[in-house]
Amino acid sequence: MNPRGVRYLKLILFVLSLTPALLLLEGALSDALGTNPVETLVRDTGQWTLRFLLITLLISPLRQLTGQSQLLRLRRMLGLFAFFYALLHLSLYIGLDKFLYWDEILNDILDRPFITIGMLAFVLLVPLAITSTDAMMRRLGRNWVKLHKLVYVIAVAGVVHFYMLVKADVTEPVIYGLILAVLLMFRLPAIKRWRPFRA
Ligand code: HEM
Repeated sequence: MNPRGVRYLKLILFVLSLTPALLLLEGALSDALGTNPVETLVRDTGQWTLRFLLITLLISPLRQLTGQSQLLRLRRMLGLFAFFYALLHLSLYIGLDKFLYWDEILNDILDRPFITIGMLAFVLLVPLAITSTDAMMRRLGRNWVKLHKLVYVIAVAGVVHFYMLVKADVTEPVIYGLILAVLLMFRLPAIKRWRPFRA
C-alpha cells in the first residue's frame, strides 16, 4: 500500500473508531439508552476498550501474514483509541455511577476484585499512551519495545475484569479470551516465523 493509501485508511479508521462514542453521546442526549443509561454507558465503553485493545493486537499478526508493513502505521492510533475508551469508561464510572464519591470509589477499588483488576489495566495503559509519540519512541529506544509489551498484560487484565463481573453467562468474556489467546499465540517465536501468504 502506498503512503497516500495509508493516509486515507487512517482517516477512515479514525472516523469509524470515533463513531461508537458519538452514537453513545447521541443516545444519551436523546434519552435512547434504555432504563439504565449510566450502566449502558459504562458497559459499552468497557466493551469498546477491550475491542480496541484486541484490534490493536491484531495489527502485528496481520502484517506478518500479509507482509504489509504499512499496517504498523495504524497501530498507534488504534492503541490510543483503546486508551480514549478506557478513559471514558473510567470517567463515566467515577462521574455518573459514583458521583465523585471518592471514598466509595476507593472502597470499590480495594474491595471489589473486578474493579481492582480494571484499575490495574487502566494504570498500566497510561504510560503506554504517554510514550506513544515518535519523540518518546526515539528517547526510550529498546526500552520502548519492552514497555509496550505491557499491552499483553493489560488485555489479559481486561478480559479477567470482564469475566469476573459477569454473574451468570460467561460466553462473551470467554469469546474475548479466546480471541486474545489466538492473538497472543502469534507472539510465540515458532508462529512468528510463519508467513503463509507471502512470496
Ligand atoms: C483497560 C481497562 C478496562 C477494560 C478493558 C474494561 C472493560 C470492561 C468491560 C468489557 C466491561 C463489561 C461490559 C459489559 O458488561 O458488556 C466493563 C464493565 C465495567 N467496568 Fe471496566 N474496563 C476497564 C477498566 C475499568 C476501570 C478502571 C474501572 C473502574 C475503576 C472499571 C469499572 C467497570 C464497571 C463498574 C463496569 C460495569 C459493571 C456492571 O455493570 O456490573 N473498568 N469493563
